Amino acid sequence: MKAVIILSAGHGKRMKSPLPKVLHKVAGKSMLQWVIDAAKTLNPDQIITVISPELKTHETLKSTDIVVQEVPQGTGDALKLATQKLQQNIEKVFLLCADTPLLQAEDLKNLENTTADLTLIGMKIDDLSKSYGRIQLNEKCYPVAIRETKHDPEAKKISIANTGVYAFNAKMLKSLLPKLEIHPDSNEFYATDLLELAVCEGYSSELFLAKEENFLGVNTLVDLSEAEKIMQCRLKANHMLNGVHFSLPETSYVHYDAEIGSGTIIEQSVHIGENVKIANNVTVFGFSYLSNCTIKSGVTIGPFSHLRNNAIIEEHASIGNFVEVKGSTIGKSAKAKHLSYIGDAVIGEKTNIGAGTITCNYNGFEKFKTHIEKNVMIGANTTLVAPVCIGESAYIAAGSVITKDVGANNLGITRTEQQEKSEWATNFRTKYIKI
Ligand code: UD1
Ligand code: MG
Repeated sequence: MKAVIILSAGHGKRMKSPLPKVLHKVAGKSMLQWVIDAAKTLNPDQIITVISPELKTHETLKSTDIVVQEVPQGTGDALKLATQKLQQNIEKVFLLCADTPLLQAEDLKNLENTTADLTLIGMKIDDLSKSYGRIQLNEKCYPVAIRETKHDPEAKKISIANTGVYAFNAKMLKSLLPKLEIHPDSNEFYATDLLELAVCEGYSSELFLAKEENFLGVNTLVDLSEAEKIMQCRLKANHMLNGVHFSLPETSYVHYDAEIGSGTIIEQSVHIGENVKIANNVTVFGFSYLSNCTIKSGVTIGPFSHLRNNAIIEEHASIGNFVEVKGSTIGKSAKAKHLSYIGDAVIGEKTNIGAGTITCNYNGFEKFKTHIEKNVMIGANTTLVAPVCIGESAYIAAGSVITKDVGANNLGITRTEQQEKSEWATNFRTKYIKI
């Protein structure tokens, strides 16, 4: 039987952020959740998360056993606390850190297949100034110690860094943990000291090397932005391999849960936020901001559109520049092409929403619905004061403020009639311009 222990109780002081480090998000998912999801790919019998007291009630942790580390006394102390909660019959323990959100299931598979008592994943780094612990090898290339560079600057000469991911023989782990000694300069116990202890007691050790980017340790907000960049590349590469055309992928953001169909084109600088589903053959023009919306096939969005709060855009509809759609359904082949706010509305098939149309859905206390049936022409600069219904094939005259329902095939108009005063302008000017 196997268990995974995830360390996530550190202060995260280097983040200089009020949010606990491991709750910072990468592509919209917390680092902790990325690591829990990766841990699950090992099909473990138990997952134990070591957390700080402030994380106690966090949703993310529901699927794991929780151990609270009241005072963060180092990775060794956190591991000690976690092993007290290990189920009986656990033979193998995997240790992961919640601040490495980019780790991949394939790397963990390597750990699973090892037979050594202590196996660790290392990475070859080019930039020797990095603060990762370094793995010391013996003459036969077996790992024998991990040296922390903050206490041992000489270790920076070593190019094999510690990823913080290990597999332990559980029996050995339990016997070695009480032997960890505190580091007086930091007042912490280090999990990394276990390697040297294990080797001294004759246990076997093994090292796997993995890609550095998979184990980027996030300790600062600069590291977080680096992790985000890498994750974004991965997510967009997946979408592109599935037939989504990002015209300038590095400029667009994609949330981890985005669903995008093949044949869809995403132009530059598009934000695809949480819970966005885009079907096949959609075009999203540049600078559009999408979250919580469903876009069906053949639709065009943008440039500069904003869709949110359960906006649904049916097949072949078109949403244009400076149009915000919130909590509304736009019917098949309907159009709202310019400068509009459509909130809490249902718009029928083939209806045309003229430029500058606003649905007034909120009276300061309550929200109200606007219903517009199919084939309706809403003239430019119309204000629709909800609750209001516009019947099928009706017309609304441009510039109207509509406060009452309009029946099918009728014209709704609330403009004052146009007057024309002959030579008014000439007379007005002569008051000011003397000849
Ligand atoms: C650690 C390793 C270092 C490795 C690096 C990889 C140690 C001593 N050093 O350094 O060799 O190269 O990870 O990224 O282990 N945590 C707790 N309780 C604590 C302290 C930390 O749960 O008391 C958790 C943190 O939340 C974090 C993880 O353990 O998720 C690692 O701690 P961190 O302080 O980030 O260690 P590093 O300095 O990155
Ligand atoms: Mg770290």
